[in-house]
Amino acid sequence: MRLYLDTAEIDLIRKGVKLGVISGVTTNPSLVYKAGWTDYKSAVQEICSIVKGPVSVEVLGQESKSMIKEARAMAKWSEHVVIKIPACEAGLEAISALSNEGIRVNMTLCFSLNQALLGALAGAAYVSPFVGRLDDVGENGMALVADIVSCFSRYGFSTQVIAASIRHPLHCVAAAQAGAHIATVPYGVLIQMVNHPLTTVGIARFLEDAQKAAGKV
Ligand code: E4P
Repeated sequence: MRLYLDTAEIDLIRKGVKLGVISGVTTNPSLVYKAGWTDYKSAVQEICSIVKGPVSVEVLGQESKSMIKEARAMAKWSEHVVIKIPACEAGLEAISALSNEGIRVNMTLCFSLNQALLGALAGAAYVSPFVGRLDDVGENGMALVADIVSCFSRYGFSTQVIAASIRHPLHCVAAAQAGAHIATVPYGVLIQMVNHPLTTVGIARFLEDAQKAAGKV
C-alpha cells in the first residue's frame, strides 16, 4: 500500500515528503480553503514539484461540460495532476470523456460499491471511498474499501482504490489489511503512524544506559 498526504498545506507536504514515504497528494476544495491558497494554479504546481507523484485536484463544475473544460485546463498545469471528479451522473460522463483523452481521473465522494464499479467502467484511474464519513453516519467505511478491492480484483479492473477520509492510525492498518492500493492521510495521522510509546521509552532507556556505560551518569 502506498501513502498519499491528504492536505493542501505546502509546508506539511514538504515535511511529509522529506520522510520518504509519501508518493502523492490529494486535495479538495475544503482543504484548499483551509490552506488559504490565493493562486490555485501556482499552489498545485508547487505541490507537484515537491511530490513528483500524483496530485489530485478537484473540479467545481456541476455539469459534465464544465467539469471537462476545467479538467482539461488543470491537466495542463503539470504532468502529475490527477483530476478529482465526484461520483454522480454528470461526473460519470466527465470521467468517461476525460479517461478517453488519457487524462487520469480520481472518482471522489465514493460511498458505495455501485459507484466504484461505475467509476472503474468509465475508466477512472482511481476511486476514493470516504471511510471516515461513512463511519460518521454509522456505516462501515473500511468494509466498503475491502468490497471494492475484491470486486476490482475479481473482474481485473486496473482502477486503484484510495482509502480516503482517514481519521486515525487504525484506519491505515485496516486499509492495508483490506488491500487498498493507497491510503491518503492527514499529516497528523502520518505522524501518529510512526509514533509508539514503547519506541519513545526504548530510545530514552538506550540513551540512558549508553551514558551510564560511558561513565557520564
Ligand atoms: C480525499 O481525497 C478526501 O477529499 C478527503 O480524504 C476527505 O476527508 P474528510 O472526510 O476528512 O474531509
